[in-house]
Amino acid sequence: MKSYSIKELLTATPLQQEVVVNGWVKTFRSKRFIALNDGSTINNIQCVVDFEELNEDVLKQIATGAALKITGILVESQGKGQRVEIQTKNVFVHGSADPETYPIQPKKHSLEFLREKAHLRVRTNTFAAVMRVRSALSFAVHQYFRDNGFYYVHTPIITGSDAEGAGEMFRVSTLDPKNPPLTEEGNVNYKEDFFGKETNLTVSGQLEAETFAMGLGKVYTFGPTFRAENSNTSRHLAEFWMIEPEVAFNDLDANMDLAEDFIKSVITYTLDNCKDDLAFLEQRLLEEEKTKPQIERSDMALLEKLKFVSTNNFKRVSYTEAIDILRNCKPNKKKKFKYPINEWGADLQSEHERFLVEKHFKCPVILFDYPAKIKAFYMRLNEDGNTVRAMDILFPGIGEIVGGSQREERLDVLKEKIKALGIDEEELWWYLDLRKFGTAVHSGFGLGFERLVLFTTGMGNIRDVIPFPRTPQNAEF
Ligand code: 4AD
Ligand code: MG
Repeated sequence: MKSYSIKELLTATPLQQEVVVNGWVKTFRSKRFIALNDGSTINNIQCVVDFEELNEDVLKQIATGAALKITGILVESQGKGQRVEIQTKNVFVHGSADPETYPIQPKKHSLEFLREKAHLRVRTNTFAAVMRVRSALSFAVHQYFRDNGFYYVHTPIITGSDAEGAGEMFRVSTLDPKNPPLTEEGNVNYKEDFFGKETNLTVSGQLEAETFAMGLGKVYTFGPTFRAENSNTSRHLAEFWMIEPEVAFNDLDANMDLAEDFIKSVITYTLDNCKDDLAFLEQRLLEEEKTKPQIERSDMALLEKLKFVSTNNFKRVSYTEAIDILRNCKPNKKKKFKYPINEWGADLQSEHERFLVEKHFKCPVILFDYPAKIKAFYMRLNEDGNTVRAMDILFPGIGEIVGGSQREERLDVLKEKIKALGIDEEELWWYLDLRKFGTAVHSGFGLGFERLVLFTTGMGNIRDVIPFPRTPQNAEF
């Protein structure tokens, strides 16, 4: 006898045949109706049992969370709400779940409560939907690049360089922390460490991806990245996944075109392929928004927002124009910003980014040509000597979702910048080699995958769109 996924049973399987299905009990009503789910879809299959025919011991074990194997006949449903149901002939209990202690009961649990039960939360509708969308998005990422002639590169997780120069790294070491070898000056002697030098978990695969772009042309990495920044926000993780394409011969305009097309394409993919989950998440968001004050509510429902973003042009604005807008905007004049914008050169905080996107332009915005001072060393210096060919993409409800740039391909200029920032040239010898041998204009960007999942699912906290979030003081599971 063939066993089917619930998704198959609910769609294309012929009626009046005997089927086997495995799954977990969502609810058990009136000792008669089991709603069973196996994760293949947000929808449950209803299994109708005749309790008088069931063994007492089996009946006792059918409760929310129990894992069952059900054998029965697939029939047209008598009740409303589903097309088909199973007339159960046999129930095998793989494993029961004691209602006294099983935390995921059929009632509303707060997202905070579920974070403490991260090993079980994927059994809730919300997390299962989010994780299916996350999986679909990952697939869409690979499909987009494959369709557009990119090669997938696995850049290293352990590195000796700080790509972003922000110094927010997790050290990788096998030295004894209680008794590390010391140099004559009394510092830890990393020459005796595993790699014979200081190493850390990567903050970005970009520098290595650049080396590949200068041989394979169009490449991307998609992997975990790590930042030891002490940011306890709903947008930051210490371990997150980043997608970083890098393209030889692309300038900043081509880079912006690529980023915009890419984001639109992966969002469209979920609209086409995650209909049930997105419909559920839209409903969840509507319910949640009802509890918020009117001004904090979004003017668009989830699907409308996803369609809007995937079909409208992103607004492209220079940093200098953005600063003018921000300097003269109402919240700045009324001192409503936590960080007031007074002068050119200020770094933009998420409150400013969200003002531009949500209140001023009311669409995704690409900001470009940032002050060199607030951006990383590898970005190409403009002729004005003050700004670099950087671009950030800002999204409603999210703020920065993409950070990228045209790279500095001129050896002398790059060396100058490295020197000015006090970075040791020796450490980047291989990166500088790219500028010595066959250098060329090239560009790339990084998209924070969880921020994309946040946007697409309409969830409010980044901790709820990654299976097991790592944040300051939190690495359980
Ligand atoms: O802007 P960032 O720091 O850019 C880079 O790392 C470049 N090397 C990328 C490149 O050009 N190849 O990070 C890129 C994106 C951000 O826009 C944001 O979406 C995400 O990564 N991000 C984070 N996401 C979650 N938690 C954090 N702590 C994040 N930090 C950055
Ligand atoms: Mg950035």
